[in-house]
Amino acid sequence: MIILAIETSCDETSVAVVKAEGGLKNPSFEILSNIVLSQIKIHKKWGGVVPMLAKREHQANLIPILKKALTKTELLKPKPTSDVGSLNRHRKSVSAIFEREPELLEQFLKFIPTIEIPKIDAIAVTVGPGLEPALWVGVNFARALATVWNKPIVGVNHMEGHIVASRLATKSNLKSLPAGEAGKISKIMKFPALALLVSGGHTELVLIKKWGDYKIIGQTRDDAAGEAFDKTARMLELPYPGGPQIAKQAENFKKYPLTFRMGGWTRREMEREALNIHLPRPMIDSKDYDFSFSGLKTAVLYMLRDMKERHVNIGDFTPTICNEIQQAIIDVLIAKTIRAAKELDAKSIILGGGVAANKELRAQMKKTVKDELSSTALYLPPSKLTTDNAAMIGAAGYLHAIKKDFTKAEKLSAKGNLSL
Ligand code: KG4
Ligand code: ZN
Repeated sequence: MIILAIETSCDETSVAVVKAEGGLKNPSFEILSNIVLSQIKIHKKWGGVVPMLAKREHQANLIPILKKALTKTELLKPKPTSDVGSLNRHRKSVSAIFEREPELLEQFLKFIPTIEIPKIDAIAVTVGPGLEPALWVGVNFARALATVWNKPIVGVNHMEGHIVASRLATKSNLKSLPAGEAGKISKIMKFPALALLVSGGHTELVLIKKWGDYKIIGQTRDDAAGEAFDKTARMLELPYPGGPQIAKQAENFKKYPLTFRMGGWTRREMEREALNIHLPRPMIDSKDYDFSFSGLKTAVLYMLRDMKERHVNIGDFTPTICNEIQQAIIDVLIAKTIRAAKELDAKSIILGGGVAANKELRAQMKKTVKDELSSTALYLPPSKLTTDNAAMIGAAGYLHAIKKDFTKAEKLSAKGNLSL
C-alpha cells in the first residue's frame, strides 16, 4: 500500500510517501520520501510556538512540500497541458473546504490541475492532538486532495504516529537518513508492548496489547517532559526549543572528566557540590505510573534565585545545571517505564516523541533495559524521526487503512485534545 501522509499539528510542515506491507501482524514500512520543513526560526523570537503563525506557514508551504515529496518518489507526472476543466467539477467544494485558507486555495488551484493523479492508495493526515488552527490546515489539505483525486482518507492520532515511528528504523529507511541504529526491526514485535511517549505536549505510558489497541496507564499531571526542558531552558536564557539546547550544554558537563580531575572529582562535580546543584526527581517513587514535572521547574527557579542572591554568575555553570535538569527528567522517565514494564510483563518497550531524540535518554534507557529486563526488546525511532514528521503519520495511517478505517472528507475534522 502506498500512503501519502500530511502532518501540521505544531511547528513542522511535513508531507511523506510511505510504502507499507505486512498487515497488522508484522507491519513494515519503507519511507519513499519525507519532507519536513521546520518553522523553529519563525517561532524562536516569541519563545514558543504561535498558533496563528504556524497556520500561516503551513498554508504557504504545503504545496511546495507536496511537490517535493512526490517528485522524490517519481509519483509526480506533469500533465501535458494544465487540465483546469477536470478541476472545475470540484472547484466549488474545494473553495468551501479552504474557506479559511485562501492562500492555500490559490496555490492548490494553480498546481493540482498541472499534475496527473498520483498512484497512491490512501491519504493519511494528523487530526490531533495539536494546535487546532495548525491541524486544520493539514486536515483541509487532505480533504481537498481526497476530493479531487477520489482517494480515501485516514485520520491519524499524532501520538500513534510517535509510537509507530519506532518501526521505521529499518536498513532501507536509514540509507537515506544519517546512519544510526538500523536493523533488528524486521523482527515481529512482541506484545504486550509498553510505549513511553515524551514530546512537547505529552508524557504518557501506553500499554499496547496489539497494533491499534492502546491504553494510557500513566501520564503527566501538569507539564510534559519536553515542556520541562523548554521552560527550564528559558530560565537559563537558552533559545527555543530548549530540549536540544539543554542536551548540548549537558554534553559539555560530561566532557570535563577527561580534562580536569582532582581527588577523584571532576571540576564540574566539584562545582555541583559547592553550589548545591541538586534537583528533585518528582514522583519517582509514587505507586502509580503518572508523572509531574512542574515541581522540577519551580525547583530550578528557586535554585537559580539562590545562586543569584549569592552573586554566582549562572552562565559559568550552565553545563552543570543543564546536566542536572536532564538527568532528573531521565531518572524519572526510566524508573517509571522499567517498573511498569516489569509489573505489566511487557515484551517490548517503545520510545517515542521529540524528547526521544535525547542521546542520554536513549543510551541510559538501552543500558537499563539490558541490565534489568534482558528478555525485553527496546525499540527506538531513528533519531531523525523522533520529532514531528509525516512518515510516522503515514505508518500509523496504514494500521487503519488495512482495516478500511476511512473517514469521509466532509466528516473529517481537527481535534486539538484528541487522546489515544
Ligand atoms: O514530538 P515533538 O517534535 O512535538 C510535539 O509533538 O510536541 O516534540 C518536541 C519536544 C520539544 O519540547 C523539544 O524541546 C523536545 O521535544 N526535544 C528534546 C530534544 N529534541 C527535541 N528534548 C530533549 N533532548 C533533545 N535532544
Ligand atoms: Zn509530536
